[in-house]
Amino acid sequence: MLLSFLTSFIGLAVAATNPIDTFANVTVFQPDSGAVSYARTESLTNGTLLATWSDFAAANNTIPIYRSADNGFSWYTFGSVTSDTEGRRLVQPHLLYLNESFGDWDAGSVLLAVNAVDDKSTNIEVYGSADSGESWSFVSTVATGGKANTTNGATPVWEPFLMMTNHKVVCYYSDQRDTQHGQKLSHQTTSESLDAWGSAVDDVAFSNYSDRPGMTTVAKLPNGKYILTFEYAMLNATGKYRYPIYYKISNDPENFGTEKAYRINVNTGVQPNGGPYVTWSPIGGVNGTIVVSDSDHNSIFVNRALGDGIWTEVKTPAGRAYSREVRIPTNDETKLRIAGGAEYGQTDPSQVLLTIMDLAKALNITS
Ligand SMILES: *[C@@H]1O[C@H](CO)[C@@H](O)[C@H](O)[C@H]1NC(C)=O
Ligand SMILES: *[C@@H]1O[C@H](CO)[C@@H](O)[C@H](O)[C@H]1NC(C)=O
Ligand SMILES: *[C@@H]1O[C@H](CO)[C@@H](O)[C@H](O)[C@H]1NC(C)=O
Ligand SMILES: *[C@@H]1O[C@H](CO)[C@@H](O)[C@H](O)[C@H]1NC(C)=O
Ligand SMILES: *[C@@H]1O[C@H](CO)[C@@H](O)[C@H](O)[C@H]1NC(C)=O
Ligand SMILES: *[C@@H]1O[C@H](CO)[C@@H](O)[C@H](O)[C@H]1NC(C)=O
Ligand SMILES: *[C@@H]1O[C@H](CO)[C@@H](O)[C@H](O)[C@H]1NC(C)=O
Ligand SMILES: *[C@@H]1O[C@H](CO)[C@@H](O)[C@H](O)[C@H]1NC(C)=O
Repeated sequence: MLLSFLTSFIGLAVAATNPIDTFANVTVFQPDSGAVSYARTESLTNGTLLATWSDFAAANNTIPIYRSADNGFSWYTFGSVTSDTEGRRLVQPHLLYLNESFGDWDAGSVLLAVNAVDDKSTNIEVYGSADSGESWSFVSTVATGGKANTTNGATPVWEPFLMMTNHKVVCYYSDQRDTQHGQKLSHQTTSESLDAWGSAVDDVAFSNYSDRPGMTTVAKLPNGKYILTFEYAMLNATGKYRYPIYYKISNDPENFGTEKAYRINVNTGVQPNGGPYVTWSPIGGVNGTIVVSDSDHNSIFVNRALGDGIWTEVKTPAGRAYSREVRIPTNDETKLRIAGGAEYGQTDPSQVLLTIMDLAKALNITS
């Protein structure tokens, strides 16, 4: 107990006293047919991870939960989340480990947000597990929209992202329900129980109707601010959408709406594009390192000035993947965990692959 307390204390100074192994492209799941995407993982304790993903060939009403007990090197089927409503496919998942109790849920519980999609509607639903991800029950619906349809004028909701902050739970998502915006980014917050969501608040909503900001992810920075990354879908001269990655920074994770949006400008001239995911690592000095993945590059893009200035492209051993996830392992913050499935537009079978890379080494940081 004392030893583990000391190692976690030293861990704050970012010396990896118990470094975890690095590896590339471990298979989490291989479907028989169809593409899998939106791979999402979450650290529990003791090197235990959970993983889930979108699989359109999966049985209706369910989404799989896989588990690893060795920091992501090997995986097995563990739990399964089932919708209470017949005919809903559970896609675009996001997992959140509760490090403190919230409402009826004890510390150590796990939440899952999904888009529950049927022929008539899209629904941002939350499920909870009190046994580390094995059994799950429906908790609440955050938002409901029209049926899945990415054409402007249709009214679905998409792609939830959960975050606990200041003893509240915030659910961010993409929102086509406002007639003033082809799509915008919204969030709802609850401060007491998981079925008391407040009303939707704008995070990113541009005045040009055809703009479609999408796919929120958020990370906390060491100066107390928060970064929200998104794809800024805008029409080009020939009327096609492109998806450059932008970000906002705010003191308040519930108040991004009035903040300015910045494009990620990269030292190599590469333009990160589509389906971003942001995380923050404490390595590399007082500012730590912001890490962003996009959907179109093997590389990640990092910023060590709290979001100021030019970003740096850093190669990874992982492949491209649509909405590829980047996370910092809680038990070794010198590493980066990368999880991905199919590339954008890919329909043939694809695996869910997991990579642990040495971020400190890739950035030439010695601690
Ligand atoms: C972590 O591992 C230790 C040693 O194996 C065990 O005693 C403890 O119960 C585990 N904790 C959790 C939360 O699983
Ligand atoms: C799930 O439901 C959809 C639409 O109702 C249907 O097209 C699909 O075949 C079903 N998938 C499975 C695996 O049953
Ligand atoms: C839980 O995590 C949040 C965000 O990282 C942090 O602010 C909070 O202090 C943590 N709570 C506990 C009880 O460790
Ligand atoms: C998608 O939404 C657009 C705009 O409302 C509508 O014109 C179109 O018919 C919808 N497509 C389907 C397949 O429902
Ligand atoms: C909105 O965006 C489209 C596509 O980029 C552009 O053609 C149009 O001029 C913009 N409208 C306004 C009011 O900025
Ligand atoms: C517009 O976007 C499409 C699709 O990404 C691309 O093929 C085309 O070259 C772009 N056109 C211009 C003028 O940028
Ligand atoms: C930390 O970030 C600030 C900008 O927010 C920058 O001025 C400063 O140089 C950075 N410090 C280090 C050590 O990189
Ligand atoms: C991992 O897989 C990707 C393709 O998904 C490939 O481009 C990359 O080279 C692989 N990495 C290694 C280290 O084999």
